[in-house]
Amino acid sequence: MAKKLLIVYYTGTGNTGRMAEEIAKGAESLGVKVELKRVEECGLSDLLEADGIVVGSPTYFSNVAWQIKKLIDESIELYRGKQLKGKVGGCFTSSGTRRDGKDCIRMLELAFGFHHEMKIVPGIVRASGDDEEETSKTCRRYGMEIAKQILS
Ligand SMILES: Cc1cc2nc3c(=O)[nH]c(=O)nc-3n(C[C@H](O)[C@H](O)[C@H](O)COP(=O)(O)O)c2cc1C
Repeated sequence: MAKKLLIVYYTGTGNTGRMAEEIAKGAESLGVKVELKRVEECGLSDLLEADGIVVGSPTYFSNVAWQIKKLIDESIELYRGKQLKGKVGGCFTSSGTRRDGKDCIRMLELAFGFHHEMKIVPGIVRASGDDEEETSKTCRRYGMEIAKQILS
């Protein structure tokens, strides 16, 4: 059966959503089945069923948006039995500044890498003013890197 990547994200004004779509294209190009979900329609069972999970959030006050934090806090259910341990993981953010975006990435890597013990591919930041074409390429390459990890 084809390996499955869940890309779950929140976006307020569309930037993080566009990153999600490009990451999906990158992963799909290597034959991984991608499920792209807004966080509002994502439940814990979606996390459990996926072989890999990539989480995206806009940077809000150097952190994740509350919609993403809500999912992280709910994932305590899966933490107790270490049910996400060993899955491939990744994260991405769209931010005004790269510095604040890195803080947001750190939060996501801590939640999914340090606490859930997923195998994290270091997250990526898009900052305001970044070249759109370059951002698309970075996102596609990131999707491919995640896919390679899932398939290995
Ligand atoms: C409530 C709020 C808080 C924000 N906080 C930060 C911040 O701390 N640092 C920063 O660089 N940009 C901040 N921004 C800018 C967003 O990170 C930026 O516009 C991002 O691209 C939004 O992504 P989206 O289009 O996916 O919603 C903030 C925006 C909002 C609406």
